[in-house]
Amino acid sequence: MKHYTSIQDIKNLDELVQEAIELKKAPFEHKHLGENKTLGMIFYNPSLRTRLSTQRAGFNLGMNVIVMNIGSDGWALEFEDGAVMNEGKAEHIKEAAEVISQYCDIIAIRTFPELKDRELDYSEPVISAFKKYATKPIVSMESATGHPLQALADLITIEEHKIVAKPKVVLTWAPHPRTLPQAVPNSFVEYMKNSNKVDLVVTCPEGYELNPEVMEGVTVEHNQQKAFEGADFIYAKNWSSYENYGQAGDVDYSWIVDEAKMKNTNNGKFMHCLPVRRNVVVADDVMDNKERNITIAEANNRTYSAQVVLKNILENS
Ligand code: CP
Repeated sequence: MKHYTSIQDIKNLDELVQEAIELKKAPFEHKHLGENKTLGMIFYNPSLRTRLSTQRAGFNLGMNVIVMNIGSDGWALEFEDGAVMNEGKAEHIKEAAEVISQYCDIIAIRTFPELKDRELDYSEPVISAFKKYATKPIVSMESATGHPLQALADLITIEEHKIVAKPKVVLTWAPHPRTLPQAVPNSFVEYMKNSNKVDLVVTCPEGYELNPEVMEGVTVEHNQQKAFEGADFIYAKNWSSYENYGQAGDVDYSWIVDEAKMKNTNNGKFMHCLPVRRNVVVADDVMDNKERNITIAEANNRTYSAQVVLKNILENS
């Protein structure tokens, strides 16, 4: 593996999931791989899980880890080629990426979309520029349109918790008071449809369909109750409209996931990437039900999704 910024960087997804599950049994076995290697973690946006789990993954592999909140602690970066830099941006990505590459052997980046210009966000301006100008492997810790480490952890979690060979997995849109990116659901759909081990259904209100390219070949059911019938896993997530990009729109709070809805499932497990707004996205009666709620186990798998990715990159470098 050279970079890890999307599912395209994975040769065999189901094999990578199995490798992560094996790694979890002996997490310190590959400590030699990271000896004298440095992981640089660059954050434009806040994080709890990604920040701690990716650091831990680096430590488990024997790496040194440097973390920088570039949005608040670094110089404001210019990304435009040929820009006359006489305003707020003090440093160009061309220098910054090359300089960071001298200090770090792998560069991991978190950068959210602006949610103003769909074409710009879907061109992944920050990740693409780092890939272009850095001389070291780039890992996405959630970008404008994808969260590949999260989706890999989700697939690991489903593999560990499934009780039927090919479970029905339902991604449900859920209400949220803010306008949120499509990164998590995009990657979730891509990983589920590229795994041979799950059947995916997406349910959302009309007008909230995801990017048609991502959704190609995926079943959409606008009736949430019908979608939940027989589901083995319910994955809740809010996302803003792809069609009316960046628009707030009316929020239908009836799409909350609660125990009454979960009773329609096949004793389904509840998943969410976290952080989650209780009693908006999901009711307490689901979150506090230890049989249903596997979000803590899911968050734990963030360490192993990051670790299997870093291991593969280290083995390739
Ligand atoms: N799920 C996830 O990426 O969590 P953080 O935003 O806390 O990193």
